[in-house]
Amino acid sequence: MCGIVAYIGKKEAYPIIIKGLKRLEYRGYDSAGVALFNEDLRVYKKKGKVNDLVSFVKGKNLEGHVGIGHTRWATHGEPNDINAHPHTSDDGRLTIIHNGIIENYATLKEALIKEGHTFTSDTDTEVLIHLIGTLQDKDNLKLEEAVRIALSQVVGAYAIVILDKDDPTKLVAARKASPLVLGIGQNEFFLASDATPLVGYTSQVVYLNDEEIAVVSNDGTFEIKTFDNEIQTPYVQRLNMNIEKLEKGDYEHFMLKEIYEQPNTIADCMRGRVNAAAGWLKMGGIEVQEERIFNAKRFIMAACGTSWHAALIGEYLFEELARIPVEVEYASELRYRNPIINKDDVVIALSQSGETADTMAALELAKEKGALIYGIVNSVGSSISRITDSGSYIHAGPEIGVASTKAFTGQVTALTLMAIYMGYKRGTIPKSYYHQLLEGLEKIPAKVKEALECDNQIKKLATKFINTNHTLYLGRGYNFPVALEGALKLKEISYIHAEGYPAAEMKHGPIALIDENMPVVVIATNKSAYEKIASNIQEVKARKGIVIAIVTKGDTEISKIADYTIEIPDTEEPFTPLLSVIPLQLLSYHIALARGCNVDQPRNLAKSVTVE
Ligand code: G6P
Repeated sequence: MCGIVAYIGKKEAYPIIIKGLKRLEYRGYDSAGVALFNEDLRVYKKKGKVNDLVSFVKGKNLEGHVGIGHTRWATHGEPNDINAHPHTSDDGRLTIIHNGIIENYATLKEALIKEGHTFTSDTDTEVLIHLIGTLQDKDNLKLEEAVRIALSQVVGAYAIVILDKDDPTKLVAARKASPLVLGIGQNEFFLASDATPLVGYTSQVVYLNDEEIAVVSNDGTFEIKTFDNEIQTPYVQRLNMNIEKLEKGDYEHFMLKEIYEQPNTIADCMRGRVNAAAGWLKMGGIEVQEERIFNAKRFIMAACGTSWHAALIGEYLFEELARIPVEVEYASELRYRNPIINKDDVVIALSQSGETADTMAALELAKEKGALIYGIVNSVGSSISRITDSGSYIHAGPEIGVASTKAFTGQVTALTLMAIYMGYKRGTIPKSYYHQLLEGLEKIPAKVKEALECDNQIKKLATKFINTNHTLYLGRGYNFPVALEGALKLKEISYIHAEGYPAAEMKHGPIALIDENMPVVVIATNKSAYEKIASNIQEVKARKGIVIAIVTKGDTEISKIADYTIEIPDTEEPFTPLLSVIPLQLLSYHIALARGCNVDQPRNLAKSVTVE
C-alpha cells in the first residue's frame, strides 16, 4: 500500500507528481506529501487526501524539476501531518518516500537513538532515512552505496526513492517486495508504484526487480544494479495503457464506471480465447504448461479479499466441469501453516493488483515446494505475473475504485474458460455441452448489459436500506461465493455489517438474527437448488425478515414470497455468478451513496495491500 511518485527532468515536477498521486490514491489516502527541489528543498505534507495537500500548498513555492511524492496508507504511526511522507534525515539533507514496512525498525531506531539521533515521527520510514544518512556521512559514501549498505541491515518490504539536496541531479530508488516502475522519457525519468502516473508522459517502462537499486540522473542517464552491486541490463517494455481508462469520464465514481464496463471487460477477457462458431476455446497459459497442468493431482487456489471469492467460484467450476480436486486458501493462512504442497500440484494465484503481499508470499512458498505456479492477474507486469510459471491475464484494464467489481468478473471469466478448456480436453465435458457452453459464453457480455438495466430499480430500493445495521446474503452452489462477495461489497463501502452464508447454513446460527428489521438478500436463480432456496426464503419470511431476491427473468414463484425481486437473464448454470453479482454490486454502490459514504475511497481500506 501507499503510492509513490518521483520525477527528474526538465519539466515542473509538482504537477506531474500530484497527477500521479491522484492516480495512485487507490493505494492509500491517509495523508499525502511532496518534496521539491529548486535552489533549496521544500517539503509539504498533510493529513488527508491528495486534494487536501493541494489546498494546503496553494500560494507556496512549488517550483522544481526534481521531486518526490507520496500518498499514505498508515502502518506505523497514526495518520497525521508529522507521520506523512516524505521524511528527512536529521540534517534535512536526504528526503525519502517509502511504500512498505521496515520490520526491524525498532532495533535500528534504538541503535540510532544511542548514537544521538532524534526522531520527529512514529514511522519506520524516518528510521530508514536516518540510517542511510548516517552511513553516508560516516564513510563519505555515494548515496546509492549508502542505500545499498543500509538495505542490507533492513528486514522488510519496501519501494523507496531518495532525493539528496546536496546532489539534486539524481534520484536513487530501490525495491524489495513492493512494486516500483521506472518510466523513461526524453532526458527525464519517472518512478512510481505502478505505471498509471506515467501514462501521458512516456510508454517506455522498466519494472524493477526485487533487490534492485536504480539511479536516474537529469542528464538522461540511468543505471540499475542488484543489491550485490552487479550492473543489470534493463528490460525496457512498452506500456499499453490509455488515459481514458484512468479517468471517470461521465460517471460520478470509478466504481460505477467499472461496474458498467463489465460487458466490455468480460468480452476482452474472452477475446481471442473463444470462438463458438468455429467450436474452439484456447488458453495460451495452459497450453504452454499443458503436460504439468493436465497431470496435476490437484489445484490449490490462493488469494485474498474479492479474489478469494472468485477462487471459490473457481473451485465449483473446476470440480464440476473438469473433475479436478481444488482447494481454496486464504493466501495469508496458506503461507504460515506449513502446507502440504507437492511437485504435481498446480497453485493458482488470483490477484487484481498482482502485488498483494500475502498472495505473493504464498506463491513463493509453493514455488519452493516445486508446484507449478499459475497467475490469474489483472495488472500487467505486476510482481505476481512475473514470478509465475504461466498464467492468464484477465484484461479488465486499470481498476481504480477500491471495491473490486470488473476484476472479479474478469477473474471468474478466466476461471470459467480454464474449467471448460480442461474439462473438454479431459473428456469430462461432452461435446454437445461443450458447444452449448461456448455459445452461452459468447452471450454473456450482452446479458451482463441486460442485468445492468436493474440499476434504476436498485437505486430506488437502496433508499429503503439507508439506516440498516445488519444484512444477510444467502446463496447456494455457484451463488454461495456470490453471496460472500455481495456482503463484502456492502460492508466495504457502506460500513453496514453484512454476512454471506450458504443458504442452508442459515439454520445453524444466522437465523437467530432474523426479525422484521433484517434485510436478507437471497440469490435464487432458477437452476439446481431452486426449490431448496425457495424453502430457505420461506424460512426467512416465517421470521418476518425482509427478502430481496435475485431471480431469473420470468420467475413467478419467488416473486410471490419475496418482498422485492430483481431479475437477471437466464444462462447456463456455471455462468450464473457473472450475472448474479451485478445487482449486488449496484445495491452496495447505491446504498453507500445514499448513506453519503466515499464510494471510491472507503475508510481504512486500500486497493493494493502490499503489507502482510
Ligand atoms: C484489497 C482490496 C480488495 C482485493 C484484495 C486482494 O483488500 O481492497 O478489493 O480483493 O485486496 O487484492 P488483489 O489485488 O490481490 O486481488
